[in-house]
Amino acid sequence: MGRGPQVQAIKGMNDIFGEDARYFQFLESTADDLFTEYGYSQMRTPILEPTELFYRSVGESSDIVVNKQMYTFVDAGERSNTMRPEGTAGVIRSVIEHGLLKEQPVQKLWYHGPMFRYEKPQKGRLRQFNQIGIEVFGIPTPAADAEVILLCAHLLKLLGFKDVIIKLNNLGDPEDRKKYNEALRDILLSSKAQWCEQCVERARINPMRVFDCKIESCRELVKTLPRINEFANKYACTHFKTVTDILEACGIKWELDTELVRGLDYYCRTVFEVIQIGTGAQSAVAGGGRYDNLVEELGGPAICGVGMAIGVERLIIAMKSQGLRPPPETVPFCYCFANDEPSLVYMFSFVEKVRSKRKDILFDLHPRSFKAGLKNANRCGAKLVAIAGSAEITERIILIKSLATGNQEKLSFDAAIKYLVDYCQ
Ligand code: HAM
Repeated sequence: MGRGPQVQAIKGMNDIFGEDARYFQFLESTADDLFTEYGYSQMRTPILEPTELFYRSVGESSDIVVNKQMYTFVDAGERSNTMRPEGTAGVIRSVIEHGLLKEQPVQKLWYHGPMFRYEKPQKGRLRQFNQIGIEVFGIPTPAADAEVILLCAHLLKLLGFKDVIIKLNNLGDPEDRKKYNEALRDILLSSKAQWCEQCVERARINPMRVFDCKIESCRELVKTLPRINEFANKYACTHFKTVTDILEACGIKWELDTELVRGLDYYCRTVFEVIQIGTGAQSAVAGGGRYDNLVEELGGPAICGVGMAIGVERLIIAMKSQGLRPPPETVPFCYCFANDEPSLVYMFSFVEKVRSKRKDILFDLHPRSFKAGLKNANRCGAKLVAIAGSAEITERIILIKSLATGNQEKLSFDAAIKYLVDYCQ
């Protein structure tokens, strides 16, 4: 027992270790390879950003702001900072600040890292969670939307998911959205008595959010409402049609979901989400869309953007529920150990020489008796053991033993290095 009371992690903020850490590594390295192949470069932005950035990007009527999900604090310099609730705003702030879009108006970026939202924690809904995301700037054509969606679907396929279905909707342009919100507000306020209190409040701030209400009576009423895609102008509709044509031509399954409005204010035209069964009540594993005015609204040039983010923890829950696992760890073929402390020094230098040529060996940092060392080697599935004790140091040799045949031989230090480096299982 410790001497003082234990300190617990903050609710909704998880330690990631063991098997979960291997899932994370697998996901991040698969994403890295895929995005790099498609010409995306990595961007890392700070976790803390000026609070104003999020008010101006995710928007005053977004779930994040309305539901007071931001971790905001005033620092010693009396500046208001916020721990990023999502990645897009920081990436845009950064590309503007560093003039990246002036140098090269087309930018394709990817990122991963922790995001923070003060939500009610439950399965798949955390206060600190990780996203892997991409953002494409400067490509107004539907091909950019399609590439972002396709990369999301590709990544899920590479992780082993079958039958990924993308839910898509067309939000039209900002004027269409404005008209839609006005129409919706009129309907909602004229039938005020039938809606829940929160939906009446939504009618005032952001009427589209009524589509997210979980109350049964509101769910029924929602079915009778006009849909945002019906308000989209003809250019936005042609744009959307081409996005879906590309997806179909590439064999990506999609579904129109006219209730999909997304919880962030910055979207226009294409929006999408990927839903996976088995991830708990919060089932969207990924989401994104086009945001053509956001760069300009954040003080940058009039350059359009489109992107998406995957929720890593939700994706891992989905992988586990479908029996998908990261590839098995490499089993070390040789277990190296020393019998006492002086021979640890000798063995350490031996192991380092082998490791400069191949990595699949294991070095036990504890001195072990011959018997204990062999037991450990068998337990970890090694084929060989390399041992040194005081006798080996005196003769400048290494003892190599095969666990399969029981044969052992004494090789000179250099010959033993060569033997292990060239060893084929
Ligand atoms: P979002 O839909 O808010 O979009 O989040 C993307 C994904 O992050 C969700 O689909 C979900 O998997 C995960 N996620 C969100 N909140 C939580 C939470 N509290 N706990 C666990 N996972 C969560 C965005 O953040 C946009 N920035 C995506 C984007 C990029 N749009 C354009 N570019």
